[in-house]
Amino acid sequence: MLNITVNGKAASVDAEPDMPLLWALREDLQLTGTKFGCGMALCGACTVHLDGQPVRSCSTPLSAATGKKVVTIEAIGNSKAGKAVQAAWVKHDVPQCGYCQSGQIMSATALLTAKPKPSDKDIDEAMSGNICRCGTYNQIKAAIKDAAVALQGA
Ligand code: FES
Ligand code: FES
Repeated sequence: MLNITVNGKAASVDAEPDMPLLWALREDLQLTGTKFGCGMALCGACTVHLDGQPVRSCSTPLSAATGKKVVTIEAIGNSKAGKAVQAAWVKHDVPQCGYCQSGQIMSATALLTAKPKPSDKDIDEAMSGNICRCGTYNQIKAAIKDAAVALQGA
């Protein structure tokens, strides 16, 4: 049994320590907002926060999450930065099919939390591991810039 804290709640998962965190989130805890894309840390669809850092949950063993705070898309709106990012996503009508978008929002929120005034280069670097097959990159960048402005005025 492994004990993890997800979105502020303690949870026990009956699984092997090397099972991917993503499986525990989706299958054991029914938090299906985090998506499975490549399974190889290449697409970013499975991004969650581990102690505030964006990680690929498909390639993070459950054992690495014990004793740490996991935050998923289901609770990202509880943070100031996450709320601003979600509002900017709506304003810019970012999603197309939507599949990559929870991962995009998790990476964008981690960026704005660490760097409230990101440069274009900061945005490109922070978001480079999140692939969007629908090509929403321009809307994502505009939404991140908008969220940064909103946060500065908040
Ligand atoms: S599913 Fe984890 S990076 Fe693609
Ligand atoms: S919105 Fe379709 S993959 Fe990004």
